[in-house]
Amino acid sequence: MNTKKLHISTIGCQMNVYDANQIAGVLAPLGYSLTQDIDTADMVVVNTCTIREKAEQKAFSALGRLAKIKLANPSLIVAVGGCVAQQEGQAIVKRMPHVDLVFGTHAIFRLPEMVRRIESTRCRIVDVRLSDTIENDTVVVGPLDTGQISAFVTIMRGCDNYCTYCVVPHVRGREASRHPDRIVQEIRMLVGQGIREVTLLGQNVNSYGNKEALCSFAELLARVNEIEGLGRIRFTTSHPKDLSEALIQAFGSLEKLCHHIHLPVQSGDDLILKRMNRRYTRRDYLKKVQRLRTVCPGISITSDFIVGFPGETDRQFQATLDLIKTVGYDGLFAFMYSDRPLAPATAFSNKISDAVKKERLQTLLDVQRQITEKRHQKMVGKVQTVLVEGPSRSIDTGQALATAPQTRWSGRSSSNHIIHFTAPDILLKKKQWLTGAFVDIMIEGAYAHSLWGRMLNEPNGEPSSKGDTIVAA
Ligand code: 5AD
Ligand code: SF4
Repeated sequence: MNTKKLHISTIGCQMNVYDANQIAGVLAPLGYSLTQDIDTADMVVVNTCTIREKAEQKAFSALGRLAKIKLANPSLIVAVGGCVAQQEGQAIVKRMPHVDLVFGTHAIFRLPEMVRRIESTRCRIVDVRLSDTIENDTVVVGPLDTGQISAFVTIMRGCDNYCTYCVVPHVRGREASRHPDRIVQEIRMLVGQGIREVTLLGQNVNSYGNKEALCSFAELLARVNEIEGLGRIRFTTSHPKDLSEALIQAFGSLEKLCHHIHLPVQSGDDLILKRMNRRYTRRDYLKKVQRLRTVCPGISITSDFIVGFPGETDRQFQATLDLIKTVGYDGLFAFMYSDRPLAPATAFSNKISDAVKKERLQTLLDVQRQITEKRHQKMVGKVQTVLVEGPSRSIDTGQALATAPQTRWSGRSSSNHIIHFTAPDILLKKKQWLTGAFVDIMIEGAYAHSLWGRMLNEPNGEPSSKGDTIVAA
């Protein structure tokens, strides 16, 4: 078989990272293998995101740059996938003559057929069909990186929530869940290839299986927890309105489920929440946070926030700051509201100026920075079990780890904190590779985005066989 080179550039969320892997997986039988080098590629896929204005701009500039590359290499196949492809469809091929293929978020499994047609007839194709169910629930495990120990697994797609600022229901379609047997099968295959940790993905994992009457998300987690060889389970994202007591209880009973939940709240003001169509109140949210902390003391909680939603007053913004302080998040993502073409809030009046949005964003991030620092400081002197991801490249003191990098490693705690640590000399002498191992780390230093510590024990569990490049003695 001919080997052809495929370059995928991915913009946006974890869902797109998973999709990129699926794209590589479905195109492998056609002879495509991945390359980082765009100039020598036979096919380039730009996997786009449209969740916020900035992401969409990034997608269009990535596509613009490809025009030159195509000029130098006219046989190159240029494909656009993801949410911008879904949103813009035909308009992209009209506007960009160098684009051969536009495929929407539900078209990945039709890619081989479409790419074959383009290879043989050099036609141009647009496929942005959306379906309400998952027609092709096939298990595809794309190529893994050397030493990769963590992988994403999509358990559902789409969203039925229609938050008024959000484009997702319009570009990813109706909510539909994969069959639990397929999910378990996929995770087993990943574990067979050295994966230790999976993150289950969905826009709202807590409503997993509801429509199809498959099983609940908590039941799915219990099944995944049984998979031999799997070390850790994470999931994202959970909608607060659907966070069930059964899921809260799972944090207390499933030993592989990491003690971290990403629970986007978006705003701390009830009227804004209502206008966002979030369907919970600040009080409902705080009650759930309290339940989580009762069942799983020390659980790490992170969230998403939007500042400058249309009509947001200074008082309403203060309510958001107050919520952040009340919860004491371990971390958060905050975004300036941006109009999305298909989202209802785009037509709302009283838009907030960019200057005010910027100022609010800065204030919010400053408040959280102080909270994070305090929470990090509290971890100093405590022991965390870390799943080692690989040699540590840098720590956020800005210090490059040029000296003896093989003694410095990094990984994540169950609470999803990034922890850098030094391994004892004895392991270096034994040329012990730590990627994929669980190690206990005494935390000795805290920085803004990470923690630093010292390894206490010999590694637990077999380190990943993929990391067989033994450290230099
Ligand atoms: N403007 C700003 N932020 C948005 N998000 C979603 N839509 C918008 C928008 N129009 C943010 C939300 C969501 C995260 C993935 O992106 O906070 O949780
Ligand atoms: Fe968008 Fe709301 Fe669905 Fe999340 S829950 S994807 S914010 S519509």
